[in-house]
Amino acid sequence: MRFPLEVVDAVRAVWPEEKPLIVRVSAVDGSRDGITLEDTVALARELAARGIDAVDVSEGGIGGGWEHPIGYGYQVPYAATLRAEAGIPTMAVGLIVDARQAEAVVAGGAADLVAVAREAQDDPNFAVHAVRELTAGYDAYPVQAGPRLASRDRLLDGLGPWTGPGPVQVREPAPVPSAG
Ligand SMILES: Cc1cc2nc3c(=O)[nH]c(=O)nc-3n(C[C@H](O)[C@H](O)[C@H](O)COP(=O)(O)O)c2cc1C
Repeated sequence: MRFPLEVVDAVRAVWPEEKPLIVRVSAVDGSRDGITLEDTVALARELAARGIDAVDVSEGGIGGGWEHPIGYGYQVPYAATLRAEAGIPTMAVGLIVDARQAEAVVAGGAADLVAVAREAQDDPNFAVHAVRELTAGYDAYPVQAGPRLASRDRLLDGLGPWTGPGPVQVREPAPVPSAG
């Protein structure tokens, strides 16, 4: 681990203290012959001692073939182990695709942060949508959008879903009561 630690020392020396410095690690190699989780715990302890703010916990894809579990949140257990055993904040990544899933990662103590890659390519507003889903609020939107989307959603709730096939599906206004 000499090389990554030399890089960390060089970056730490010039990176402002008040800004986060996060190191991405491959917690295990793609092959079981390579880096193990125990190796990465040792690295993470060194990183913590050097003032690194968090480790972003991935795993290696190069090796003798994919020999590790794959599925939703498949790398979260590595983040949890590093957090518990090296005493360093962690960022979990890998098939985290749902706001409630991301919340469960943090609430369950596996990680302090969640990173989203491909899901954010599919929905660049993922984080904003997650706040809306988890809080039923629109505060994460820019001020010019949030209140308008909130009132539009109330309108859409009243209208129900568009059912087609025609593009126009309107509700007639209530008749105006006649005077007298
Ligand atoms: C376009 C793209 C580029 C990526 N580049 C890197 C990279 O340079 N270094 C790295 O460690 N991971 C890289 N990744 C991996 C992601 O950071 C992430 O760990 C991985 O896609 C799993 O998370 P996801 O399921 O949210 O996509 C990249 C992923 C994508 C989709």
